[in-house]
Parts: sequence; structure tokens; C-alpha cells
Amino acid sequence: MADPLAERALAVEAFRRAAASAEDYLAKIDQEPVRPEGADAAAMRLGARFPDDGDGALAAIAELVAASDGALRASGPRFFHWVVGGGTPAALAADVLTSTWDQISSAWDSSPIGTRCEELALDWLKQLFRLPAEWGGVLTTGATMANFTALAAARTWWGRRHDVDVDAHGLAGLPAVPVLSSGYIHPSATKALAMLGIGRESVRRFQRDDVGRLDLAALNDALQELRGAPAIIVGNAGEVNAGDFDPIDALADLAERYGAWLHVDGAFGIFARATPKAEHLAKGVERAQSVIGDSHKWLNVPYDSGFAFVRDASLLSSAFAIGAAYLPKPGEHPMFAAMGPEASRRARGIAVWATLRAYGRNGYRAMVERHLALAQHLARKVDEAPDLERLADVPLNIVCFRYRPEHARVEELDALNLRVGAELLRDGRVYAGTTRYRGMTAFRPAIVNWRSTEADVELLVDVVREVGSRLGAIAAV
Ligand SMILES: Cc1ncc(COP(=O)(O)O)c(C=O)c1O
Repeated sequence: MADPLAERALAVEAFRRAAASAEDYLAKIDQEPVRPEGADAAAMRLGARFPDDGDGALAAIAELVAASDGALRASGPRFFHWVVGGGTPAALAADVLTSTWDQISSAWDSSPIGTRCEELALDWLKQLFRLPAEWGGVLTTGATMANFTALAAARTWWGRRHDVDVDAHGLAGLPAVPVLSSGYIHPSATKALAMLGIGRESVRRFQRDDVGRLDLAALNDALQELRGAPAIIVGNAGEVNAGDFDPIDALADLAERYGAWLHVDGAFGIFARATPKAEHLAKGVERAQSVIGDSHKWLNVPYDSGFAFVRDASLLSSAFAIGAAYLPKPGEHPMFAAMGPEASRRARGIAVWATLRAYGRNGYRAMVERHLALAQHLARKVDEAPDLERLADVPLNIVCFRYRPEHARVEELDALNLRVGAELLRDGRVYAGTTRYRGMTAFRPAIVNWRSTEADVELLVDVVREVGSRLGAIAAV
């Protein structure tokens, strides 16, 4: 029978074996396909039988290492599916220390370094995005929980406007919370609204076309019809299909005019504010009541990591208060467990601090600018290819296009692109999935990984065309 106590002396060796495998992984990541051959089989190789008697850490790690092809090279340079960053060298190394130190980053008493890193990380992120220094903030597991956190603060504010402490008494007896957005609202925001008891279906979308672009005049009319009743506006800084933005400044004007709460989902789009080349896209975010973003996307910190900022920090403390005789109280330093959803918390601030400390404002500015240039390069390659059709402008880091060979009938294109998309993921050299855009099936590669180069985006073009022509030829037979 294996017992961790009997393995005390093996802890360092187990760590070394994991580190050796990680070293091997990192050495090859720039060359390897995103989906290693046999990825599914490798993952399924893990034994399913729950052992009565385990055979110890070294055997467990050996089995895991043997199955490591089950790990997609998602932190590598050619994973353009969803919006997936990698881990910078500083963030990755700091994350290893975070696991080793195993801090409960709830309060200063439980982790001075975790709390200090989180304080600094939040402060520096505000500087990176040029947000007011006095705003409150907290790190979260990602943008979904950051949306939840910021919208919880909005709910507290909304309850106060109705003279009710909803954190104490709940929403019972109150009218429905009006939530207004464009067609760009991300499902993570509606999921957050569901978790908050406001309801997924509460959102009214004001859009002027099938892409989802904001109908500002209709939103204005809806706010006017509310006759001063408090409402929450969700602005979207960076939507997932083409990287487009709601006009945040105009939304801030409406929020001011009607006394509404403006929340901005900037999961990746907030990084537009890291460079003068794109900051105009996210102008006005500094006028919002809350804004959120992801660190595991464009900051390139390992999963999972996000952040929420709220203008009035006291609202976070109301929504997320937690107290018991045995727990610490907020003191000189913030007690982050009382400002966000989790009580026990991973010290996510360590990796965020490390990467900001390592690369600074100019390092991030350079990386974001490199990605903007890569997106333009990809757009040019798409435009030059006779069998590819670009479907949207490229304001940021996402290029929306579809495979469209000359001979194909328009009504066949959706099915063909779906097949190309599925084959692309199976082929595995480069990863990009499909979406629906303006009623069409399309690819929407997003460039956020610090390792990506021109050769990587060119490979995407080549593989889509190669797979497309192969599948198109089969269909034509
Ligand atoms: C605009 C936007 N908001 C929210 C999310 C959800 O982020 P997460 O998966 O980190 O919770 C995403 C994810 O891609 C996103 O693009």
C-alpha cells in the first residue's frame, strides 16, 4: 500500500520527473502539431480502475507522462481556436512555484506573498489598461467569473437603488433587473446573469444587423422608456467572431444620461488599451462602472486566470462579504476572499505579477502590436488566396473567413466549411474552429499566443486550402 507519508523522500524526485517531462514538452512545442498523433488514444490509455492499493507517486507520474500526447499543444504557437493564450516563460515558472508553495490566497494572514502579488498585479493591470487607480479589483478564475463578480457588484448597486440590500435579503419581491446590450454579448455574461438570479433571458439585445452590431438609438429609447429606473448596460469590448467592439464611449454617454450601470466585457479586447495603435477601439472603458478581462488569454498566463475591476470597491465587499470567528478580517491589506466569489483561492496573482514584472508595459505593448500585425498579415494571405473569402474587417486580432473554391455552389459552402473545420481539428497541424457569421459557417482564428509568428499563420492558410481542396475534390466526385 502506498501512503504519501512514506513517500516524503520521493517528493523531490516526483517533481523532477514531472519537470523533465515538462522540459521535453517545452523543447518541442514550437515544432510539434497542436494535436499530437494518437492524442485520443493517449488520453484513453489512463487506467480506469480505481486502485485499492496505489503504487505511489512515481508510478502515477510515469503513467501521466506516458499519456502526455493526450495534451493538445494549446500553449503553442498554432492554437488559434477560441481565444487561447499560452504561458510566458515568467508566468509559467511562477505558476510552478504557485503550485509548490500552495498558498491559500484569501487574506494576508493566509498568504502575505499571494496577497501582495495580487495587490500589485491589480494595480499594474490598471496601469497597463489606463484605468483609474482608485478602482477596486479582484482576480478570478477567468472572464466568466469576472463577469459574475462585476455583475454581482452591479446587482448590489441596483438593489440599493431600490432601497434593498439584495446581498442580505435576495431579489424576492423586486422587479426584474433590466439588462441591455448589443448582439455581441458573450454567453459567459448571460451565464453570469443566470448564476446571479437575474436570469439568462433578462438581456435585451439592441442590434442593427445580423452580425449583432449595436443599435444605439434603440438602446437609448429603451433606457428612456425605463423612466429613471436603474438598469445595467453590458458593453462588449472585443467580440469573438471578428474582434469588433461596441462603441463604449457612446454607451458611457447613455449610462451617464440615464444613471445606468455600464459594465464592459473586455475578456481579450481590453488589451487594445495596451497600445496606441488600437486604444481607440476601447475608448471610454475608463468611464464604465466595471470592466473585466482574462489573464489566460492575451496576458499569456496559464489557466485559469481572470480579473474584475469595479469603480466602487465597497460594492465588491458587500456582494462577497464572508466572516466567521475563525477567519481573518480585512486589515492593512485587502482580504481578497471577501471581494470575490471564492473563499479559499489559488494565488493567481503570483503568475500575473511575474509576467508583468518580467515584460512590463512595453513588452506587452510590443506583443499586442505584433499580434495586430500578424492578424493583418493573415488577412492579406486570405485576400490573396483565390479559394478563401474574408467575411469581416480585422480591427484587432481575429480574422473571419471561409473556404470558397471557385466551382462551389453557395448553398454548399456551409457544409463544406463544417467538414473542413472538423478535418482541420483532426489533422491537428494547426487549430482553428468554425463559427456562424452573418448566416455563414466561417473560421475565426484568434491570435493571442506570445509564440505565434508569420510562419504559423501562413501554415493555417496553407492547411485550410489543402484540406479544403482535398474535401472539395471528394465532394465533386
Ligand atoms: C468576450 C468574452 N467574454 C467572456 C469569455 C469567457 O471567458 P472564460 O472562458 O475565461 O471564462 C470569453 C471567452 O472567450 C470572451 O471571448
